[in-house]
Amino acid sequence: MDHGLDSKIADIAASNTAALEVFEKLGIDYCCGGWRSLADACAAAGVPVGTALALLERTPAAPAAAESAPESLGSADLMRWIVEKHHRFVREASTRLTVLLAKSAAAHGAAHPEVAETASIFQSLERELSAHMLREEAILFPAFERLIAAPGGQAMAALTPPVRRMMEDHEDAGELLARMRSLTGGYAPPADACPTLTAAYQGLAAFERDLHVHIHLENNVLFPRFQRAS
Ligand SMILES: [Fe+2]
Ligand SMILES: [Fe+2]
Repeated sequence: MDHGLDSKIADIAASNTAALEVFEKLGIDYCCGGWRSLADACAAAGVPVGTALALLERTPAAPAAAESAPESLGSADLMRWIVEKHHRFVREASTRLTVLLAKSAAAHGAAHPEVAETASIFQSLERELSAHMLREEAILFPAFERLIAAPGGQAMAALTPPVRRMMEDHEDAGELLARMRSLTGGYAPPADACPTLTAAYQGLAAFERDLHVHIHLENNVLFPRFQRAS
């Protein structure tokens, strides 16, 4: 892949799904922090830029199948993909994680206050996300569909404020994820953790990973298609 220090993280991420693995591995924020240059994002993550470039160069070219490269889908298909894969994942995983975290907080909350705090942050995240996804499904995505059917500059300009609000929601969600990651030391269960807490932390790590990709697909791929270049 051909990327330089000034390349925008969002552009690198949108051009090749395999780059997301590299960013996850290095702790580089590619969803809400996608506006940064590679050099700035590496500095923020404390990663030598040469390491990131070397890993990015080794990533394979983007495959054609939707499963591994949803970035290449048309907008209507991409919205369906986001709802059917990522919104469904958030809903299903939230139900499961809420139960696991409540049990874990009851069992470990006294010895490990961070478990109870993590459970309560997750509840806030779950509430915010379920309202947010409904707004996308009921308002924003249908507005995108109408714009696809009848393109027009005015209609596109009218979508700038709601898109911006969705991106602010994404930032709030990203902050809650970061707080849980830091509270739990990167979702590392304590030595005396029971299988429930271990499963909860594993589930949270998977939840974080999926939400990063989900937000990346909206912020870096879908939304820019409906915003005027500035
Ligand atoms: Fe979404
Ligand atoms: Fe979203």
